[in-house]
Amino acid sequence: MNAIKQKVEVLGIDVGGSGIKGAPVNIESGELVAERERIPTPQPATPKAVLKVIKKIVAHFDWTGPIGCAFPARIKHGAVATATNISKDFLGVNLASQISDVTGLPARALNDADAAGIAEMRFGAGRNRRDVVLLLTVGTGIGSALFVDGTLVPNTEFGHFDVGGTNGELLASDRTRKKKELSWKQWAKRLQKYLDRVEFLLAPDLIIVGGGVSRPDRAELYFDRLETSAELVPAQMSNAAGIVGAALCAEDLLAARTP
Ligand code: BGC
Repeated sequence: MNAIKQKVEVLGIDVGGSGIKGAPVNIESGELVAERERIPTPQPATPKAVLKVIKKIVAHFDWTGPIGCAFPARIKHGAVATATNISKDFLGVNLASQISDVTGLPARALNDADAAGIAEMRFGAGRNRRDVVLLLTVGTGIGSALFVDGTLVPNTEFGHFDVGGTNGELLASDRTRKKKELSWKQWAKRLQKYLDRVEFLLAPDLIIVGGGVSRPDRAELYFDRLETSAELVPAQMSNAAGIVGAALCAEDLLAARTP
């Protein structure tokens, strides 16, 4: 790998409920520089099993540079601090150090919605927005990333707002849509209730809906049914946002490696 390439590429890895995906990312353009590799999330998704998959992804790309990892939990001062949709064995684990231990490479880790938010703010639907922007990733759970004047307020968990006595993500996640076999119309009603609550509590100026449901072919099935005071748009980077944001969070490690 030449010096210039090494300066701008970080391996982004996005750990999700059903798949662990990774690709090298050009952090200046936000583009994936190789086709992403996806490996099904091992069940149970214990730290040992997940780290084994991460090691496989690193090997797949013959990767020797920095790694950024997006993870579906709060990551506070390096340690996994919540475990809603992941193995409880992760609680307290310093993910970045564990990744470094198994791969021998420098690593950083952050919450998956924060990662997607960082990517959308830099390269996607939130570009140049300075007001209050809320990104929601709607998938297995609902994740949130809040930006005020372009700055991330890290580790928010707005997917867990109570909506009429039900946890927000249990009401309106994509997993619930699939599990309950809801039509897009039925599911959109639930998402609307959730968005009403979010708007009442946070009053964002822009809401970006991310995750698999933001893919254009899916967004067109329900987006028109939603009504918010805030501007409401689908994410532009779809499933790549987590990988790209993961890479961006390890950007500083590139500088550390440059002589
Ligand atoms: C978790 C969040 C995560 C979101 C999306 C939620 O259940 O609590 O930390 O960002 O799912 O994966």
